[in-house]
Amino acid sequence: MAIVRIPGAGATITDAAEITTFLAAHGIDYERWTPDRPIDTDATPEMVLAAYARDVEPLMARGGYRTADVIDVRPDTPNLEAMLAKFSREHWHDEDEVRFIIEGRGLFHVHPAESPVFAIEVEAGDLIRVPRGTQHWFDLCADRRIRAIRLFQDQSGWTPHYTDTGIDQGFQPLCFGPSYLTPRPFPQA
Ligand SMILES: [Fe+2]
Repeated sequence: MAIVRIPGAGATITDAAEITTFLAAHGIDYERWTPDRPIDTDATPEMVLAAYARDVEPLMARGGYRTADVIDVRPDTPNLEAMLAKFSREHWHDEDEVRFIIEGRGLFHVHPAESPVFAIEVEAGDLIRVPRGTQHWFDLCADRRIRAIRLFQDQSGWTPHYTDTGIDQGFQPLCFGPSYLTPRPFPQA
């Protein structure tokens, strides 16, 4: 389940229905998907796409997405920091950014034109569709791990256009992770 935080308002949203409503108001689709069959961590991209075909194929038809692939990022991925640096500065794309998280976590910050920046922390089972033209940036969480399905209308449209406002510098790329939802033990006297 995703977590949405609005740092400027001191607000956090953890309820799935509230997250869906909040993101929809900003034009962002949020869904939870479950696979048709269990997926091993070493499953091939083809196996992953087949396991989610029931959800992937209708979304591709609806959104005009023509290709789907699976990215796999690990702490030992070559040139990881350089790759991450491309997306951790505020940017926008000529096409939608569609990600379904299979494994790991990530943090999208979204900068709407008329309201405060908010962060969406995504994890396994979360589908997010950020519409073309939306100003945003992306970071991995501390474990530097994400495996995700990506859908593209045209991969050339997915080149980042940087805003160079520096706004991203004012937000810590901190993930709460599942532990955020674990109640702390009651203090002992
Ligand atoms: Fe992006």
